[in-house]
Amino acid sequence: MASDPLPAAAADAAPGDINTRLLDAASAADVAEAERMLRAGRLVAVPTETVYGLAADAARANAVRGIFAAKRRPTGHPLIVHLASADRLSAWAIDIPPAARVLADAFWPGPLTMLLHKSPRVPADVTGGRVSVGLRVPDHPVLMRLLERLDTGLAAPSANPHKQLSPTTAAHVMAGLRGRIDAVLDGGPCRVGLESTIVDLTGPRPRIVRAGPIDREQLQSTLGVDVDVPEAHSVVVPGNMRVHYRPATLLQVLERDELVQRLHALDHTARIAVVSYGDRLRRVPAGVRRQVCMPADKADYARELYDVLHRLDHDTLEAIWLQSPPTDEAWRDVHDRLQRASAQ
Ligand code: TXA
Ligand code: MG
Repeated sequence: MASDPLPAAAADAAPGDINTRLLDAASAADVAEAERMLRAGRLVAVPTETVYGLAADAARANAVRGIFAAKRRPTGHPLIVHLASADRLSAWAIDIPPAARVLADAFWPGPLTMLLHKSPRVPADVTGGRVSVGLRVPDHPVLMRLLERLDTGLAAPSANPHKQLSPTTAAHVMAGLRGRIDAVLDGGPCRVGLESTIVDLTGPRPRIVRAGPIDREQLQSTLGVDVDVPEAHSVVVPGNMRVHYRPATLLQVLERDELVQRLHALDHTARIAVVSYGDRLRRVPAGVRRQVCMPADKADYARELYDVLHRLDHDTLEAIWLQSPPTDEAWRDVHDRLQRASAQ
């Protein structure tokens, strides 16, 4: 790849001193500005259907390095490359197995990332020196148009400072990265709200390395083969640490009985937020300063979760007590994120 001038958000800029522009995805002029910035190797947070991504041209190593600097993300953590369509797969991956085409047909555009053997064209900075690359075609009309016009891949991790909660609105991105990136393209709240499923197709059997909106059942029935799901968090995915996606406020996930017991014993001077599931609590003691009732439907729950945690995190509370939602397979991604957000 050609070498480029350093992007504005890279090492030559002191942290926090960039004038981060808020661009409107509904404005053709603003989308054109985002496109110009990305062409110039700059960092633009973009909406996807899952969470906002911090995007840069994946073919330009310098631009990609800017992402790590802005997020303060360790350089070994590989980035997902977003493509305009599955037709671009062979530009970024080699030895593509038939299963990849099958999954692309079934789930792209959509919240599925595939790990494939990387093409030599992919800068090592993108993959943290790995032989595999994560690829996904996102299901968002504005991002899709940008990708088509740019005619390159966009490397984009979630647009949050390292180890903090992923953003599902432009305001979340601004709260975390204002001053460290060139722009945020505001496309409204993300429709899915949790990060994509990641499936590794480089081994003998497909393996889920991050649970997500597309679950094991869907992958197995589409592929007609077993798909592995490691019980513990995989070290294959370096970002897959136990503590991750964390609000600053202590988050505790509790079964309903335990929640009720704790509420009985709660001091009136306490500052607790309660996030209940399905229906609101009837008797709320004075120490509960906020109560949020989450939707019963899984997709609705996933869409709202990060926004609820972001909002409660602003409220200087002692703790967030969250009632555990159902534990069936379809909720695996929600529990995965809750587990990490509540890990000490
Ligand atoms: O929904 C999503 O996937 C969002 C949107 C913006 O597309 N992106 C996202 O990116 O969540 P990020 O970087 O926050 O999480 C991607 C995870 C990281 O844990 C990273 O280590 C892993 O994917 N990953 C990416 N490429 C990989 C590779 N080649 N091998 C192993 N893990 C990889
Ligand atoms: Mg992330």
